[in-house]
Amino acid sequence: MRKKIVAGNWKMNKTLDEALSLTSEVVHMINDEVLGDVEVVLCVPSLYLTTLSKYVENAPKIILGAQNCHEKASGAFTGEISAPMLKAIGIPYVILGHSERRQYFAETGAQLAAKVDSALENGLTPIFCCGESLEQRQNEDFIEVVKTQISESLFHLSAEQLQAVVIAYEPIWAIGTGLTASAEQAQDMHAALRAHLAGKYGQAVADSISILYGGSVGAGNAAELFACPDVDGGLVGGASLKSRDFTEIVKARQ
Ligand code: G3P
Repeated sequence: MRKKIVAGNWKMNKTLDEALSLTSEVVHMINDEVLGDVEVVLCVPSLYLTTLSKYVENAPKIILGAQNCHEKASGAFTGEISAPMLKAIGIPYVILGHSERRQYFAETGAQLAAKVDSALENGLTPIFCCGESLEQRQNEDFIEVVKTQISESLFHLSAEQLQAVVIAYEPIWAIGTGLTASAEQAQDMHAALRAHLAGKYGQAVADSISILYGGSVGAGNAAELFACPDVDGGLVGGASLKSRDFTEIVKARQ
């Protein structure tokens, strides 16, 4: 089902005390707001998921997510966490295929397809990331690059399975740079992605998929980005580490 979602990706930031403080601030700021049907997701370091789950259990507007999971259910994979582990502690969302994992951990399209399968088998909602590099943008083959990322990791799914996936378009050149994609650039890519989904699954299924934008989303640009017809919300990095900025972004999604 197509939803309005603002997800914060904390990445590898915050000590436990800092995480508790930030979560408390966000809970109090968000709880004071009338947010309509916006889903607010905090994707925190997996180390904190159990502790913070207890912290937000009385905050119905805040949902927790993980930043990754392994494609196997269990085994000799030192340092990894699995989808069954996330399911067991009641974590509904998991970011998969973030560009930083593709870059630093060499995650492939086939591996990400297996991660998506494991997440869906365990009832999790994958936030599946895609996006082009600056060179690919400049070479003007960025739409084909991103469509390929979607095809190779999601097009094995049935229509019903796909409808349980959230897609996040994050141009790599906009991540952490302060160089946000323009609303036109974001809308053009989101529309191309939705058309790509429609070509495989039909327009009704394509129109039911939430497609988030990520890449230097801030309090000052969120409203313009979220006004785009094919931008259903945001995947927010740096600004999610500041409770007031993150709350302003959530309010912009209403
Ligand atoms: O996953 C979201 C992240 O990659 C975006 O980071 O700091 O550009 O909002 P940032």
